[in-house]
Amino acid sequence: MTSVIRKIKRDHDKTIGFVPTMGALHEGHLSLVKEARRMCELVVVSIFVNPTQFGPMEDFNKYPRDLTGDTALLANYNVDYIFVPTVDEIYPPGFNTYINVEGVSDKLEGESRPGHFRGVATVVMILFNIIKPDFAFFGQKDAQQTVVVKRLVQDLAIETEIVVLPTVREESGLALSSRNKYLNAEERQSAAVVYRALKAARAEFKQGERNSDRLIEVVRSVLGTEPRIKVDYVSVNDAETLEKVERLGENPVYISLAVNFGKVRLIDNFILNRNKHTGPLSQLPQ
Ligand code: PAJ
Repeated sequence: MTSVIRKIKRDHDKTIGFVPTMGALHEGHLSLVKEARRMCELVVVSIFVNPTQFGPMEDFNKYPRDLTGDTALLANYNVDYIFVPTVDEIYPPGFNTYINVEGVSDKLEGESRPGHFRGVATVVMILFNIIKPDFAFFGQKDAQQTVVVKRLVQDLAIETEIVVLPTVREESGLALSSRNKYLNAEERQSAAVVYRALKAARAEFKQGERNSDRLIEVVRSVLGTEPRIKVDYVSVNDAETLEKVERLGENPVYISLAVNFGKVRLIDNFILNRNKHTGPLSQLPQ
């Protein structure tokens, strides 16, 4: 792959758009591919279930894999390259270098999934070094991941612009996720309570509520209507630094949550206050 990219760069100097994924593609992934296709001359999609971002008790082995289905889907989007490396290609024997984006990696998901963002940052760095994208596309669904990757790119002077696109949802409001495959139809319907909980908090915010604890209570009380949901966290954090915010001021925040629904961990978030911000985050969609 590295030599292919080098040749493209040398011969054509085309803008490269890159969409990193772990496969089991759905409309959320495809929205990123569509935007990459719109913005860039060459589109590269990677499919790699990255072992270093899974904890020892997590679902690396049973994470859904469907390369045939994935390539069939991508065929509809005129993707130039699908990069499907093996674990040994990314992590050859003797591999020993990891990227730790400090601070923003330890909170929220990082607290419940120690080492997760170290694995994400490391694989993203390796993939960026192989593909050398001008633009890379990420979903707001994994908001903390976008913060970690933006920090990584800025701190290590990587010449890739990070584009963040809105969360694609089922009609019920449930955010699309490869892990939704673990839920049956009835469970998927019930899991939409996560979206309703965030919507209720946003409605309170729009009514003028600025106290984070109060907004968190609203989310928790709606989640409480579904007895199968076990809340891991509900939190309000600055959208750039991920510092906890007690009272909403001028800056955009994420109100985010993680819950366990049966054996499935669901995460979701909304951005509040985004319109008041004048920086690049103002372009972040909901
Ligand atoms: P994966 O979970 O496959 O997601 C790939 C990309 O699709 C991520 O940027 C994610 O935020 C985005 N995405 C997932 N569900 C979405 C939805 N409902 N709407 C919009 N975008 C959505 O995230 C990863 O893989 C990995 O951590 C990776 C970045 C590939 C590194 O291994």
